[in-house]
Amino acid sequence: MMKNIRGDFPILKQGIIYLDSAATSQKPQAVIDAMNHFYAHEYATVHRGVYSLSANATQKYNQVREKIAQFINAERVDEIVFTKGTTDSINLVAQTYPIGKGDEIIISEMEHHSNIVPWQMLCERTGAILKIIPVNDRAELDLEIYQSLLNSRTKLVSIAHVANSTGTINPIETIIKMAHAHGAKVLIDAAQSAAHLPIDVQRLDADFLAFSGHKMFGPTGIGVLYGKYEFLEKMPPLQGGGDMIELVTLEKTTYAKPPLRFEAGTPSIAQVMGLGAAVDYIEQIGLENIAAIEHQLLEYATAKLLEIPDLRIIGTAERKAGIISFCVEGVHHLDLAVFLDLEGIAIRSGHHCAQPLMKRFCVPGTNRISFAPFNTFEEIDTLVSALQSTLKVLS
Ligand SMILES: Cc1ncc(COP(=O)(O)O)c(C=O)c1O
Repeated sequence: MMKNIRGDFPILKQGIIYLDSAATSQKPQAVIDAMNHFYAHEYATVHRGVYSLSANATQKYNQVREKIAQFINAERVDEIVFTKGTTDSINLVAQTYPIGKGDEIIISEMEHHSNIVPWQMLCERTGAILKIIPVNDRAELDLEIYQSLLNSRTKLVSIAHVANSTGTINPIETIIKMAHAHGAKVLIDAAQSAAHLPIDVQRLDADFLAFSGHKMFGPTGIGVLYGKYEFLEKMPPLQGGGDMIELVTLEKTTYAKPPLRFEAGTPSIAQVMGLGAAVDYIEQIGLENIAAIEHQLLEYATAKLLEIPDLRIIGTAERKAGIISFCVEGVHHLDLAVFLDLEGIAIRSGHHCAQPLMKRFCVPGTNRISFAPFNTFEEIDTLVSALQSTLKVLS
């Protein structure tokens, strides 16, 4: 029998049914303890102090970087850049990777706004061109059209591993191979997969990978950009300040090597400790186990939801992670979420920062449930019966 996962999450003792892990995950006690312990007993700045408190903090901080490198199987620890989160990581690439006028970037119709807007801003700034892979009616990428968009001008392809609004798992291995065949590099937005599916950047041959601590049981304010060293090495810093320099004179500054080149200022030290504890937590359960639990929840919930008349699931891809978006004919998604909240059930409603995908499916927004391994079939039953009684009131 696997460990008691529910018991690890103190917030669940309030009796809430939390079905919004795709927005942000709840924190296990181990992560809360790691951060509290660090603040109470070990806190000091990193990289600067010679005193032992600071030296120890620096050592622990560096160990987390190593842990992250192992977690995604990066070849080198200095391929791991600490950022504020996925948005920050994608913006870092969009602002520093060499792309110019006439170069082409490919994204898809199912991306989160944070994997759309930075590229649009880049195109406005440089005259680069943004191309879009459309999705089919199941919310799967159209790979034939993707193939037709690739050419020698394609510099970068930036695609979600898992779509946050529909749960579609994209065939990133194929996507990367196809891009590489044209000399294009690939950024994988792993915000929705890092805590749900195993990732091996070397096996995938991913060029960049971005994810957020707060969606993988860790704290807010910390995330990761993985980049192949050969690319990071050539990218200029985005921000200037402390920690990112080699030598500063009033006339000229030379920059530190990656990853510090991209980490100006005092970093989010306690958050890094929390992220380290989050990775330990995920590894204790095992990503394969997490994926299996969430898949069972997905199948169970999908079948139950489809029993509700007039309920339509948006996103019926063959390969899905534990995310279900749905609409009920004649009922506004916001009303539904508010009523469910009265029953202690937290679900997301809205456009999920994926307005182009909402437009593709002709809906202003959806209701979305998303799973963590602490969710249960009983919670899904409670959700479905609350939905049924709410719909009697609303429709
Ligand atoms: C697929 C995807 N990409 C990027 C992001 C942005 O993550 P963050 O807000 O942590 O930077 C999210 C957040 O929901 C997401 O789901």
